[in-house]
Amino acid sequence: DKGGWSSFMAKEVSEEPEAVAKTVLGRVRDGAVVIPELDGLDELFAGISRVVVIACGTAAYAGQVGKYAIEQWARIPVDVELAHEFRYRDPVIGPDTLVVSISQSGETMDTLMAVKYAREQGARTLSICNTQGATIPRESDAVVYTHAGPEVAVASTKAFVAQITALYLLALHVARVRGSMTAEQIARETHELEAVPEKISTILEREQERITQLAGWMADTRSVLFLGRHVGFPIALEGALKLKEISYIHAEGFAAGELKHGPIALIEPGQPVFVIVPSPRDSTLLHDKVVSNIQEIRARGARVIVIAEEGDASVLPFSDEVLRIPLAGALFEPLLAVVPLHIFAMGLATAKGLDVDQPRNLAKSVTVE
Ligand code: F6R
Repeated sequence: DKGGWSSFMAKEVSEEPEAVAKTVLGRVRDGAVVIPELDGLDELFAGISRVVVIACGTAAYAGQVGKYAIEQWARIPVDVELAHEFRYRDPVIGPDTLVVSISQSGETMDTLMAVKYAREQGARTLSICNTQGATIPRESDAVVYTHAGPEVAVASTKAFVAQITALYLLALHVARVRGSMTAEQIARETHELEAVPEKISTILEREQERITQLAGWMADTRSVLFLGRHVGFPIALEGALKLKEISYIHAEGFAAGELKHGPIALIEPGQPVFVIVPSPRDSTLLHDKVVSNIQEIRARGARVIVIAEEGDASVLPFSDEVLRIPLAGALFEPLLAVVPLHIFAMGLATAKGLDVDQPRNLAKSVTVE
């Protein structure tokens, strides 16, 4: 039931605030992270020396975002790998490796085979999954469910923000067990996390119409590029994937720092480029580097659409459009910056008259390898 929305995707994007809120619900108490599903696993978390995240598509991008949080908070090295690549390359893993799989459906065959393989190699396995009782959680030592609710549209949206949320909760839980953060530090981050749903709602209220209109004007566009740095990089990849998937437009995401190593050659007058700008408050260095990337592409005629924090005026002279996200700590920006990109992909596909829920050649759950 679309509940009055024009598509399941539209409904599910509108549920992004709830997807985060419900995934946090009952797992944060007085600033501390409480995950009953992980009771009795302290020894496991204390004993691991590395984390390998495996997933496919959008879930893998959530994993890439999660890597920053797990490394920064829990101080454990994290590798993120596509499940189908991991499974077929003789990876070095063992009992000190925690393999975290991420899957909305819990049935993705590529991910399932990788989890089984990891177990055979003696690794510990933890599943982040949105579907109760699905195969992947059943095949894993532990599970942390995302509570995004059923996702029907083929393109994953609300599950993505829920996956990042679950990874952040996991990172903070492990940080407590390993003593890499104080209770006060953890409380500061859980407070930020609890504030995210409201901030996503603000974006939906303030920017949805404008972004949809912008997408409508761009219905004839043949190629769109996305740039991001740090946690903005996986968000750029996610923005590009969503656009390819439902609007059939060529799209690519790049790490902004990589521009001068090749991709800048693609920039010609009129080329639309989305740029995710890090907050100037957390790291002026990172922020200024991205702003100088914007200047470089603007000088070559790119049509620049920036996603930037409210009040960041430095981007104004070099941008054609500025989409605003509320203030948040650096690690929480991806949960906000992705929202305009989901709206944009949906708006563009709709403007092209496409079925956003059922893109060609794709299935919601990929149960073959
Ligand atoms: C993109 C998308 C896919 C899935 C991928 C993994 O919008 O939906 O890339 O994210 O197929 O699916 P799950 O999470 O079910 O394992």
